[in-house]
This record gives sequence, C-alpha cells and structure tokens, in this order.
Amino acid sequence: MGQQPITFLRQVIALCTYPELMDDPSFPLDAKLRASKILQSCGGQSLGSYSSSQGVRCIRENVAQYIMQRDGGIPADPDNIYLTTGASDGIASILKILVSGEDKSRTGIMIPIPQYPLYSAAISELDAIQVNYYLDEENCWALDVNELRRALYHARDYCNPKVLCIINPGNPTGQVQSRHCIEEVIHFAWEEGLFLLADEVYQDNVYSDNCKFHSFKKVLCEMGPEYFTNVELASFHSTSKGYTGECGYRGGYMEVVNLHRDIAAQLVKMLSVRLCPPVSGQAAMDVVVNPPKPEEESYNRFIREKEAVLSNLAYKAKLTEEIFNQIPGIKCNSLQGAMYAFPRIFIPDKAVQRAKELRMAPDMFYCMQLLEETGICVVPGSGFGQKEGTYHFRMTILPAVEKLKTLLQKVKEFHIKFIDEYS
Ligand SMILES: Cc1ncc(COP(=O)(O)O)c(C=O)c1O
Repeated sequence: MGQQPITFLRQVIALCTYPELMDDPSFPLDAKLRASKILQSCGGQSLGSYSSSQGVRCIRENVAQYIMQRDGGIPADPDNIYLTTGASDGIASILKILVSGEDKSRTGIMIPIPQYPLYSAAISELDAIQVNYYLDEENCWALDVNELRRALYHARDYCNPKVLCIINPGNPTGQVQSRHCIEEVIHFAWEEGLFLLADEVYQDNVYSDNCKFHSFKKVLCEMGPEYFTNVELASFHSTSKGYTGECGYRGGYMEVVNLHRDIAAQLVKMLSVRLCPPVSGQAAMDVVVNPPKPEEESYNRFIREKEAVLSNLAYKAKLTEEIFNQIPGIKCNSLQGAMYAFPRIFIPDKAVQRAKELRMAPDMFYCMQLLEETGICVVPGSGFGQKEGTYHFRMTILPAVEKLKTLLQKVKEFHIKFIDEYS
C-alpha cells in the first residue's frame, strides 16, 4: 500500500539478523545498542536460535514495561506475557485451551457481528459454538450490554457460553469503545463468569478527537479488587497494525490476567509443541513496545515517521467518511479507529432479485459488479456478518491519498450508475 516502514525498526532487525553491520557507521548507536541487547538474550546470541516457547525473556520484560506505561503505572508481569506469531496465533491458542464439552455443554464463544473472520474460522476449526452479538450500527457500532445479555441467555439453551470476545478498536467497523462501555462489559463478564478476550491490535489507530483508547486491563484494574482478582482476561497486540504495519514479521503478544496456574502450565505445554514464535518477529515486537526515547539519537526521525503515518491515516479516515456520506444510498459511520470503512449500502430490490438468480448474496453481487467495472476490490459485508436485510462492504483506507481519492470517486460513480440501472 506504499506505507513506508519505520526506519528504526528495520535497522534493529537488520542488525539483529546480520550483526556484522554493528561496524557500519551508517547505523545509529541506539539501534545498535537495542540490537545487541536483544541478541544477548537469544541462544548463541543469534536470531537463528529457538527461544523459549513463551518468548525471549528480555522482550517480555519490555512488553510488561510498555503495558505499565500505557496503563498509567498499573504493573504487568513478564510471566503473564506470551510472545506470539502475530495476534492470530495468540487468539487461536487461548481459544483452543478454553474449548471443551459435548453437545449442550460445548463451549460457546461470543463474538461481535460484524466480526473479523479469524474468530468464526477459529471457532469452526475447534468445533466450538459461535454466539453472535450484534453491534449497534445506528449508534456508531457501539457495544450494547443488553444485546450481550440477550445473546448469552439465548445461547445457554444450546451451549455453554464461556468466552466473550471484544475487538477494540473494531475491525471491520472502526469504532472505539468508550470507557463507560468497557466498564459495563467487564461488569457483565464478572457477573456471568465469562473469560474476556480483548483484541486490541488497533490500539495505536485512533483518529477521532473525541475518542481515546482504553485498555481492558487498565479499566479492569481501576474497577477495584472484586474485578481485578476475579475476571479472567487475555488481551492481544501485534506488530501488524499501528504505525508499523509489519504484518509479515508475525510479531505479537498476549497478556493474561487471572489465568489459573494449572491452566497457564497447560498453555505453555501446548505452545511448546510449536517450539517458539519467529524470533525476528519477537525482535520486531520489542521495537514496537520499546521505541526510541527522547534523549536518543533516532528519536526525532522516529517521531516524524510515526506522526506521518498516523496523521495520514487520520486524514484518510475523515476523507473516506465524508465522501461516502455524500453518495445517495451509502451511509458511513465515523471511522474512529482501525484501518477500514464499513459503509452501509442500500441495494435496490431489482438488484437483490438479480443476485438471487445468480445465487449470490446481494452485497457479493454488488462487490463483483464493482470489481468488474472499476477494478476495485472490496469485501462484501456478508463475509463479516451483518444484520439480516442490511448490506455493507469493507474497504481499507491504507492506499495513498491520491489513489484513495481516485478510488472513492470511482466507487461514487459506480454506485450512482448501479442504483440507476436497478431502480
Ligand atoms: C481485529 C484483528 N485481530 C487480529 C488480527 C490478526 O493480526 P496479526 O497479523 O497480528 O495476526 C487482525 C488482522 O487484520 C485484526 O484485524
């Protein structure tokens, strides 16, 4: 998508990968120090060695330090941190350990609809039961606890709902949850004895001025001992998103809170079957959680690059929302965070009929027509789940501004023509 990598991250990884570069004067000293610290913690001082299954100790310590700073001083324990192969691997692993039972006692996993399809796929692979709760589109995709309650009570008729997944900021819906909402969700999980999974991979991608990222861990701890000594939580972060976008390195971490010691032992045993997450990905995670500090040589460049990526994304989020909302028959909620627009499209009956004839979901038909006519590829809302009778598509805001403008203009022209043709 043309997004430039953060130089410091690539320098540290390059130095870790090929330590002979330590003698190269074009690499800054702080990157060299960072790389040698990582290497000192690696077996044989090499990225090519296996690490412990939970991940390199000094990187887990840096993750714990990052979480503590992010959460205003609330401590994090490196023993509760697991470095993972992207967030996906952490999510799939914890789900695997949580699923059990047969028939009506089979584990139910509550997921938002629309959802990021990793969840439905992992649930299906584990033969667990997917329990849908719907986000409120009329209210900027907010999470409503009454809807959680409805979904949970209904699901208890046919399974044993044990896990509640939250994606914040949301993919594909882009909403950022308010602190009040998070408190309500935690209270609900406490009341109902649910294990919380907080997917927070977009924690650095918040654009709306009136929104702020609140981690579930922080809110949980601030709600008092009744909550922070009882509610089980796993939260996830990744090198793939934020301002780094280094998804190919497959770096990530999971922090667990209140995981029973025996379960943690089983988790480590299970993870050890896969030996360890890629050590280069662990090193990338280290840079994400431990970027240059104000007194260090690389700081100014790092901040410049980071701000450039984030302000560009914020601009594109606003632009996308504005243009979509100018198009009759498209309605787009504010892109408060993450990297996507998920506009609602109103598809005329005649087009719905045509899609039926072609045995396609109406939004799939729309997206295929868009692809055929413009070459633009977006994902139909039916891939993420949506309320019956509503249609959407998901589009990333990652392309460069000029490309994005052209793309939005083409979508606009296509949509107007499509509506005209099928009205
Ligand atoms: C909400 C959400 N969770 C998890 C992931 C997976 O990220 P990773 O590359 O860290 O496995 C993604 C990727 O798009 C995502 O959007």
